[in-house]
Amino acid sequence: MKPETTLFERALRENAQQVENLLDNVLSPAHRSDEITRPDNLLEAMRYGVLNGGKRLRPFLVIESSKMLSGNALAALRVGSALECLHCYSLVHDDLPAMDDDDLRRGQPTVHRKFDEATAILAGDSLLTIAFDIIAAPETPLPDASKTALVLALARAAGIGGMAGGQAFDLAAEKQAPDEQGIITLQAMKTGALLRFACEAGAIIAGADAETRQRLRTFGERVGLAFQLADDLLDLTADAATMGKATGKDAARGKGTLVALRGQAWAEQRLGELVDEASQLLEPYGERADILTAAARFIAERKS
Ligand code: IPE
Ligand code: IPE
Ligand code: MG
Ligand code: MG
Ligand code: MG
Repeated sequence: MKPETTLFERALRENAQQVENLLDNVLSPAHRSDEITRPDNLLEAMRYGVLNGGKRLRPFLVIESSKMLSGNALAALRVGSALECLHCYSLVHDDLPAMDDDDLRRGQPTVHRKFDEATAILAGDSLLTIAFDIIAAPETPLPDASKTALVLALARAAGIGGMAGGQAFDLAAEKQAPDEQGIITLQAMKTGALLRFACEAGAIIAGADAETRQRLRTFGERVGLAFQLADDLLDLTADAATMGKATGKDAARGKGTLVALRGQAWAEQRLGELVDEASQLLEPYGERADILTAAARFIAERKS
């Protein structure tokens, strides 16, 4: 194993533990001021959809990009945890019968399978909204202007011009196959936008200048493209036991992916290029960027 892999894996595990502790706390039965009460069954479904062994890559990117730029660690942990809630909402809804109709997620029955569809929809709604709660809450130690910038950037990344819009393109693509540029746009939106936000958020938390923020944003875009390309490759090459979710679905549903269009060898080469581009963007930060560079490589080369 390369030393940087070890370093990266340890950091990923440590960050994930912190995120899970925080989310366990945020998703507790005790209601917050201004809430009326928290329905047990809905809370249970939210916890089931979140505290179920995800890789926690998005919080990792928030925490480490903030750390590279000397941002506040607690703020980064909270923003990363908020993003993980939003990501988990996207998975809960993505798995619904009206969307990808999947029974398995992170090695366990999907939320609508374990509970029911209505509960899964509401758990998703509640995870989406709590993400903004966690950022704006007084416990997040950031100036109001930074919180506003984060809320705005996350809303833009998650909504019609980002993840949700990308999901709409993804479903439409089952009926009419998009061309290559269409697939790139679709993927930059459905998966890329949240990963881009993760990296850009680090710069916002650290109060970095506009140029740095743009650089981190571009880094996040490259990572996002690599991430979905790897996901599509794994859908083709890996098995469900390894992935904790069904595989071979993209071909079965006629999903427009770059792997389907250009083939596996091309995708593997493109992944290498994307990692190189991402690494080059962080060269100005020298060794401080090592962990993020290792993360980009892991995302491209991951086997699950
Ligand atoms: C899976 O995301 C869904 C996509 C956006 C392709 P991850 O591979 O990050 O899933 P978890 O969070 O580790 O389960
Ligand atoms: C999911 O993409 C993207 C979002 C949830 C926004 P996929 O549908 O490819 O993800 P998996 O393969 O189910 O994890
Ligand atoms: Mg999908
Ligand atoms: Mg899916
Ligand atoms: Mg997939």
